[in-house]
Amino acid sequence: MQVITRARLAAVRAVLIALAACLGLAACSGKDSDAGKNGGAQNNKADDITREQARFDAERKPEKVVQALKIGPGSRVADVGAGSGLLTVHLARAVKPTGQVVATDIDSAVLDLMHSRLQAAGLADIVERRVVGADTPGLEDATYDAILLAEVDHYFGDPIGWLKAAAKALKPTGRIVISNRIHHRAKSMAAAQKAGLVLEAESTPVPTHFIASFLPPGAAK
Ligand SMILES: C[S@@+](CC[C@H](N)C(=O)[O-])C[C@H]1O[C@@H](n2cnc3c(N)ncnc32)[C@H](O)[C@@H]1O
Repeated sequence: MQVITRARLAAVRAVLIALAACLGLAACSGKDSDAGKNGGAQNNKADDITREQARFDAERKPEKVVQALKIGPGSRVADVGAGSGLLTVHLARAVKPTGQVVATDIDSAVLDLMHSRLQAAGLADIVERRVVGADTPGLEDATYDAILLAEVDHYFGDPIGWLKAAAKALKPTGRIVISNRIHHRAKSMAAAQKAGLVLEAESTPVPTHFIASFLPPGAAK
């Protein structure tokens, strides 16, 4: 009787040891698989950012916008209504390492998205995020080599007043570039003219968008 009990105890002990070993293994593999999942999620996010940027670059030809802005290393440029920063990365690359981009938006959440994009590209140091009011550029006077308005001027309540205020933020040699969908073009051009801006050049590098660059009021072409 005693012998049977000892044998049973030994068997139960063996089962418990095996169970503990299994649980330990499961815990480790669970940890490992979580780490794998997180790493995978991060990779997916990076892939999404890369794919979105590639699609945007193919559709919008941002190099043409950079050309119109006439910016280079050391320039100070404002990206108005920067959104999630699909254009901002190109401006930052153009002005680095000594220049600066001031990226404005009325929505702080999109500027946070922009910051992630810039961090991934190693360009976050070049760009200042600035939340602004809807009716004001929020830019310092006589400071900017270029101000970009991409797909944003149609949101302004008073586009003429807004553009007049923005012109004050330009250096005397600076320019404002407006790029938007073709169907906004007539209103954009009329507002710029009424604000006293001087049309420097215009192009349509993709069928959906125009790019127009303007010098400050009173500038000779
Ligand atoms: C269509 S997105 C354009 C984003 C980016 N510029 C581009 O071309 O991909 C318009 C952005 O302008 C911002 N916005 C709207 N009204 C604005 C205003 N009055 N001043 C600054 N940003 C504004 C919106 O929050 C949004 O992020």
